[in-house]
Amino acid sequence: MPDVLAAFPELADIDEPDLRDGVRDCWATACADNAVDDLEAVPWFPPAQRGHGIEDEYLVGHVRDVVAGARALAESLEASRGAEIDHDLLLAAALVHDVSKLYEFDGMEETAVGDLLGHPHYGVHCVAAAGLPVECAHVVLSHTSRTTVEPAFLEAELVKRADEAAAAAIRLTVLDDLRDA
Ligand SMILES: [Fe+2]
Repeated sequence: MPDVLAAFPELADIDEPDLRDGVRDCWATACADNAVDDLEAVPWFPPAQRGHGIEDEYLVGHVRDVVAGARALAESLEASRGAEIDHDLLLAAALVHDVSKLYEFDGMEETAVGDLLGHPHYGVHCVAAAGLPVECAHVVLSHTSRTTVEPAFLEAELVKRADEAAAAAIRLTVLDDLRDA
């Protein structure tokens, strides 16, 4: 069983024990359900990697990029305009925003969950089953334009934007212009 805390050391920064345990359980269950022994070897996003010939990009690295980006945005807005951020929620939601990919893909191959549900709907089930609050499920659903759910609060908006920036940074490893993505 993969060591979730080793993959995501940011977990330790979540103060609320139930939230911290829920995020850990969410990933641990996803790994167990999908026989993932090496979490670090799970690819970032197979269709985009195949389409653009992107190699050696992994989900753990991407999720950590999103966590770091969302936190940086939060700290900037707190300092500049006193924005009120729930850092536990931001961190927990950023950490689980893509957990459904473990169900959507088996290695580089799309599964029935990926084909029939698409990204990231199954993540709502993962989050709920782990006992995480509905706000986390909202961030999962609203972080991508593949759903019609728009961010309702700042933590969701920050994860969405951090995810877009992190994905763009990956695409720019092989593209000269993001408009070609
Ligand atoms: Fe993502």
